[in-house]
Amino acid sequence: MTNRPKLVVANRKMNGNLPDNARFLQSVLQETRHHRARYAVCPPHPYLQQAQQLLQHSHVAWGGQNMSRFERGAYTGSVSPLMLKEFGCTYVIIGHSERRLRGHESDESCGERFEAALKAGLTPILCIGETLEEYELGETDLVVVRQLNPVISHVGIQALAKGVIAYEPIWAIGTGKAASPQHAQAILSFIRGHIGLLDEQVAEQITLLYGGSVNPGNAAQLMSMPDVDGGLIGGASLIVEDFIQICQIANELSSLKSAA
Ligand code: PGA
Repeated sequence: MTNRPKLVVANRKMNGNLPDNARFLQSVLQETRHHRARYAVCPPHPYLQQAQQLLQHSHVAWGGQNMSRFERGAYTGSVSPLMLKEFGCTYVIIGHSERRLRGHESDESCGERFEAALKAGLTPILCIGETLEEYELGETDLVVVRQLNPVISHVGIQALAKGVIAYEPIWAIGTGKAASPQHAQAILSFIRGHIGLLDEQVAEQITLLYGGSVNPGNAAQLMSMPDVDGGLIGGASLIVEDFIQICQIANELSSLKSAA
């Protein structure tokens, strides 16, 4: 039995404001303080300082939703890994489909930024997943390998374990139609197997998340799948009670795992 405590990450996307964020962060802190599961919150960049103020020295980590591969320079509108680090981030989301889709981010650039994140001491959360059309054509395996391989060739298989991979089928994001637990398990098991062909220990250690319409009603089934180490939570992280319920489920599953 593996012993990877669950990781639940709130992807708050372009939502929130100072008072709303404060309520959210304080409730998460309070309600999860004795938990064994791991938690992180990714607010929009302007709110990272607020996250740092409210979460520092706590069990809840925070992170950015995107970053440049460059440390500084003439890149208007971008945020560098060093800046995220300066505001205490542990994590950074790389290659979310909402950024890939408009053609802004290639598989190659995700590899470069995954590498830059590790170099800065951040834990990248690499998002991968297929479109509805690719799903219907049965191409999911091909797509996730295509998205994963440039990252492996940039950082090498050993360093991959320092990051997190989130499988997020695009057809499940924000649609209310989560993948079935069986589908999430099949793809995450395939991803772990693909990594295991290169290094079995890395495959065993790496944290793999599922994301896409996770809510308090489906979280237990999804996260109890053996290769689902937690969730990347969008919409349900905007309702504090829902997010806390998901955290409670993750924690119960983490405690069960440690008892096993
Ligand atoms: P969702 O978003 O939970 O609203 O589907 C997940 C994500 O985009 O990371």
